[in-house]
Amino acid sequence: MPQMKNFITLADLHDVAKIIDLAKSCKNDPFAFEKLGHRKTLGLLFFNPSLRTRLSTQKAAKQLGLDVMVMNFSNEAWAIEYKNKTVMSGLRSEHVKEAAQVVSQYCDFVAIRAFATLTDKVRDEEEQVLREFAEYASVPIVNMESATAHPLQALADGLTIQEQVQVKKPKIVLSWAPHPKALPHAVANSFIRLMDHTEADFVITHPEGYDLNPEIVGNNKVSYNQEEALHGADVVYVKNWCSYTNYGAILRTDDQWMMTPEKMKRTNNAFFMHCLPIRRNVVAADGVLDDDKSLVIEQANNRTYATQAVLHQLLSHG
Ligand code: CP
Repeated sequence: MPQMKNFITLADLHDVAKIIDLAKSCKNDPFAFEKLGHRKTLGLLFFNPSLRTRLSTQKAAKQLGLDVMVMNFSNEAWAIEYKNKTVMSGLRSEHVKEAAQVVSQYCDFVAIRAFATLTDKVRDEEEQVLREFAEYASVPIVNMESATAHPLQALADGLTIQEQVQVKKPKIVLSWAPHPKALPHAVANSFIRLMDHTEADFVITHPEGYDLNPEIVGNNKVSYNQEEALHGADVVYVKNWCSYTNYGAILRTDDQWMMTPEKMKRTNNAFFMHCLPIRRNVVAADGVLDDDKSLVIEQANNRTYATQAVLHQLLSHG
């Protein structure tokens, strides 16, 4: 496969299907490539919390023989300044120009988690943190969830769907769900991008006002009627996101859109998917999460192998 400089979105992959195949082989034989990362180091920089991404990325790296360094920028590192030609007399002590170059002295790859602010749409859409690190680092940058994308999650979801769904062209529904906090669009965006590479009858359903970025939604079907959208579905992927137009706003918090066992009965005995973490009985009812058709734990398991496949590509061709 051709060279991949950074892994920021699924568009950085030459062939998404081949990466999912590679993830599958990593799952079948996790230590098959354990010499690939010998004497190389992966740095993990977290600007936001994580359970799955932090642990699965470390596991993936170790299975490839990589050493790993982890740093929480939220409470351990100097606050980073991103503005150019600024007088740094405020609270920010270190400029990204130095930080990115310094980290590159210690690591052969740097993976970064930096969520959306949900207050500054322009900054979020520019992916300021990832793009600035990518500009000044001399090593490849991997996205562990940025303002607008969570491609490692999407690859794990793609692997999970491929393993579990036997229907040739399944009906896959991405359904909005309520949440008390404003959440970003990254998971939904990357799932939609994954669907561009998946043979499926794909429908997005959400209440009016919760439209996603129209450039990402493109020509995909959108319905404001959740019950209608769920009819005959083979996979139901549930996720909350805040308003895109009224950026960062929560327009409704009622439970009308929560996924329930009653709603799942409208489907074709569908699998239930969610990236986790999930608020029980807010986003989905206990009866959905505890049902045999829930794939949430397997999705989390597959995060390791999806990440292993991406790191394998960077090690082999980066
Ligand atoms: N799905 C996911 O990215 O989980 P974490 O936020 O716990 O890493």
